[in-house]
Amino acid sequence: MTQIQDFAGRTALVTGAASGIGEACAQSLAARGAKKLILIDVDEGGLHTLNLPCEVELITGSVADVALWSKLEDTLSSTGETLDHAVVNAGIGAGGTIDQLSMADWRRVMDVNLDGAFLTLSTSLRSMPKQGGSIVVVASTTGVKPVPGVGPYGISKAAVAHMARIAAAENASKNIRVNAIAPGGVDTAIWEGSPEFVAASEKYGRDTAIKGLTGSTPSGRFASSAEMADSILYLLSDAASNITGTVLVSDGGFTL
Ligand code: NAI
Repeated sequence: MTQIQDFAGRTALVTGAASGIGEACAQSLAARGAKKLILIDVDEGGLHTLNLPCEVELITGSVADVALWSKLEDTLSSTGETLDHAVVNAGIGAGGTIDQLSMADWRRVMDVNLDGAFLTLSTSLRSMPKQGGSIVVVASTTGVKPVPGVGPYGISKAAVAHMARIAAAENASKNIRVNAIAPGGVDTAIWEGSPEFVAASEKYGRDTAIKGLTGSTPSGRFASSAEMADSILYLLSDAASNITGTVLVSDGGFTL
């Protein structure tokens, strides 16, 4: 690990930190010296199982809850604390074709994946110190490549990637870098939200069910959460000090 990927003394916010990619980012930030992590998730039990070697503030609640963000921002400004980094990660999966989507399904996904990302990003931008900071928004290759049947999910991810680029343009002069990452398949619990995946897991076992999803990925495998955290921490770190407004595709060749 190079010196410039060191997070010593830094404070970072990670949403969706109780599982998968968010948990791996929290673990990796702590291992690389972060002083304090503010971790947010709806899953209170999952947050409390994390065992991290740094100061940790756990917040149970939804990223789509405006009151949660107002409270956090008020607390940060009253204590004079700031955020050096943020990983805008919490998200939910969803399937369905556009012609069959109900308004309720559309809103459920947009609420978390788009509104929640907006609230996380805007609060983080306002909470950064004068010397600047960096933010990574977790998008998806489904926001880059039009994959049939992922309905509002892919649309929400295209929107958050573009939101990251607009925020990058708006904040570069303040030395705040904002990038997005577009993962292909990652082996996490998000797949348990897919009825087809759950059925395949029950029938063939989880590993076979995951393998069955990798047919359109040239590398023939899904990434691990730790691999994705490595890419996210690169963008977050001083190693990427001249990179802002990019959407880094990390997908084993899925979009080729
Ligand atoms: P995961 O399901 O393992 O973790 C997501 C975490 O977000 C969970 O702990 C969950 O409780 C939390 N969460 C869900 N809704 C929330 C809300 N309203 N407020 C706060 N926390 C909430 O899934 P994974 O894969 O780690 O997902 C992380 C991000 O990566 C998501 O934005 C997802 O869309 C994105 N992604 C995942 C891919 C994959 O194949 N696993 C591929 C591309 C993108």
